[in-house]
Amino acid sequence: MIERSYISQEEINRQMAVADRLNTELADRCLLYYVETFGCQMNVRDSETIRGILERIGYHESPDKEHADFILFNTCCVREHAEKRLMGNIGSLKDLKDEKPSLIIAVCGCMMQQKDVAKRLLRRFPHVSLIFGPNVLFRLPEMLASVLEGHRTAVTSEENYAIAEGLPQFRDNPRSAFVNITFGCNNFCTYCIVPYVRGPERSREMSDILSEIESLTLSGVTEITLLGQNVNSYGKDLPEGSFSRLLNEANKIPGLKRLRFMTSHPKDLSDDVIRAIAENDQVCHHVHLPVQSGSNAILKKMNRKYTREQYLETICKLRKAVPDIEFTTDIIVGFPGETEEQFQETLSLVDEVGFAAAFTFAYSPRAGTPAAKMSDQIPESVKKRRLSELNALQSKKTVENNAKYVGVEDVLLVEGYDDRSGETILHGKFQNFKMVYFPGKKDLMNQYVLVRVLSLKNNSLIGEQINE
Ligand code: 5AD
Ligand code: SF4
Repeated sequence: MIERSYISQEEINRQMAVADRLNTELADRCLLYYVETFGCQMNVRDSETIRGILERIGYHESPDKEHADFILFNTCCVREHAEKRLMGNIGSLKDLKDEKPSLIIAVCGCMMQQKDVAKRLLRRFPHVSLIFGPNVLFRLPEMLASVLEGHRTAVTSEENYAIAEGLPQFRDNPRSAFVNITFGCNNFCTYCIVPYVRGPERSREMSDILSEIESLTLSGVTEITLLGQNVNSYGKDLPEGSFSRLLNEANKIPGLKRLRFMTSHPKDLSDDVIRAIAENDQVCHHVHLPVQSGSNAILKKMNRKYTREQYLETICKLRKAVPDIEFTTDIIVGFPGETEEQFQETLSLVDEVGFAAAFTFAYSPRAGTPAAKMSDQIPESVKKRRLSELNALQSKKTVENNAKYVGVEDVLLVEGYDDRSGETILHGKFQNFKMVYFPGKKDLMNQYVLVRVLSLKNNSLIGEQINE
């Protein structure tokens, strides 16, 4: 565990003073930004801070890349295809930059924390003028000032893991918000790049988290998702405080209706946390619990520190304590050395648990991680076949899981709509994460609505609004 430290208030004030100076200098230019975010909720959350800083500088959001004066890609490096996609995206902006030389193209996020990738990107794309890693985003005002003065700026792979509090935020959703509780990860699963790019695990002070939630609920937010690579180990680096205590305290905040959290590591999901889920009214009955594999031998090689049996026992305990709980998971197929039998063990676990949904991945070697050096890599064709077998099984399980909901009436929070067919179809989630689609008016967006589930369509639940 590293010593937790904070970016000083003086430094934050200094950055904000630079932002305010730029705001005055750029006041007559009506500048627009476009931020594209890849990867996980951490990145979505970081983009909200980036947008907050850009707004403070005086930029406003652009509806598309073509009108933007500042384009930023917030990148992910968890799997390889993200890198290819990013390179394609940046390449395609060259013409735009030729037409508008004042355009600033910037790249940030986890991928920029990998020294060799950052170097390659700078060499290959001279039209990129700013790159920075996730742990220095508080320095965006200063970095942008340097770019505006004509300097190509790169601040990457810095080993500064101090926490920055009190930065501006720009959140889109008036009802639902992400709140960071930990940064980084100490687990070093052998396939995973995250501990190398996001640094060691650090918990925010509980008082900072609770006051952020309080100010969000005061502004009308009713659904909070607590974010961390492993939320269950929250507080291990604090004198007092644990994840269950945080849930108990957050649950008391007036105005809060739904308290979610992700991601849970099976090895750290304690009985206290199970109790906190069962006993706190606002804590949602959903756990995202990545299992990764159903084979003990593979779990060991992955350094996951739990067995299939322990995982199943945790699921069992949670179901006993919280009967309507739903689980989602992450699964990797084709980890080095995975035999056909071991893959079958993953299928049998998926069959046994009955996840509401699973995010499934073919193993992707990440340079610098132990698994990438393992000699028994699985051919792509085998990974692909296993992935489609797993997806077929999960689809069947999703339909089975959905079938339980036909006839159910419950409240959902509307989070999106689709009106391409001419009719507006809204969608939203029950508190336990089940998504339902139903016809309705767009003005129900971000509202809580009572819905009855009527039928299943492919992998989805279809319902109707009931008037209370
Ligand atoms: N290859 C494939 N999937 C991976 N994940 C993380 N690293 C890799 C990798 N190298 C998956 C895990 C994790 C999710 C966020 O991404 O399942 O839980
Ligand atoms: Fe990666 Fe494992 Fe940490 Fe999750 S717990 S971020 S998979 S190292």
